[in-house]
Amino acid sequence: MAKTRVKKIKAKIMKGIILAGGRGTRLLPLTKITNKHLLPIFDRAMIDYPLQTLLSAGITNILIVSGREHAGDFIEYLGSGKDRDATFTYKVQDAAGGIAQALLLAEDFVDGDNMTVILGDNIFGENFKKKITKFKKGATVFLKEVADPERFGVATLKGNKVVKIVEKPKKPESNMVTTGVYQYDNSVFDIIRKLKPSDRGELEQTDVNNAFIKKGLMNAEMVDEFWSDAGTFDSLARTVNWVIERRNK
Ligand code: G1P
Repeated sequence: MAKTRVKKIKAKIMKGIILAGGRGTRLLPLTKITNKHLLPIFDRAMIDYPLQTLLSAGITNILIVSGREHAGDFIEYLGSGKDRDATFTYKVQDAAGGIAQALLLAEDFVDGDNMTVILGDNIFGENFKKKITKFKKGATVFLKEVADPERFGVATLKGNKVVKIVEKPKKPESNMVTTGVYQYDNSVFDIIRKLKPSDRGELEQTDVNNAFIKKGLMNAEMVDEFWSDAGTFDSLARTVNWVIERRNK
């Protein structure tokens, strides 16, 4: 009698990825001696905040991608994850080549599951648990209205659909920008493999997101509370002040 093969269907879980590489040139000279994401925001290293954003959304299987120079310091600071009831995995991006290139290093770790990606310099005041658990397939970007859209990926919306994202445009079409939280299914890796470097020599996350828009597989969530990308001295100072105010409440 012929044996029938039973294909095991693995239930998809949500993996977390923190991207903490890059050169951090906007924070020179401090980033000469350490990775941007290890700089202090009041009483903790910057990376602690995006990490907490993932943990409080119920994501406990987390990959941290950093540059090689300070990779050991991330392990020293965060450890295995045991003391936070989580599991941390570490991966090294040899040379800074963009957010999308760093994300490609996560393919084995993701292993067919869905993923929530957060940039290591993004600080949020919101608990994303409800929004994050809505994800089913394709991609989701988390948008926020800001006064200085030209610093970010700028989204053009039709109703509540994102029809286009432009990376750091000189003349932004809207004030609605992509924050550093993205959700993807496993098809993101094939999309990244087809990307070409941008004018700044990087594989851009915005190009990844536009590919999902073209396929009609892009969703958007709004960020309702505080958000800061602490990648410049001004935004770093604003973020430190916000943390102090929040602690004193
Ligand atoms: C990156 C993305 C940009 C996004 C921003 C959010 O910019 O390229 O689209 O709006 O993060 O923090 P970068 O910080 O690399 O300049």
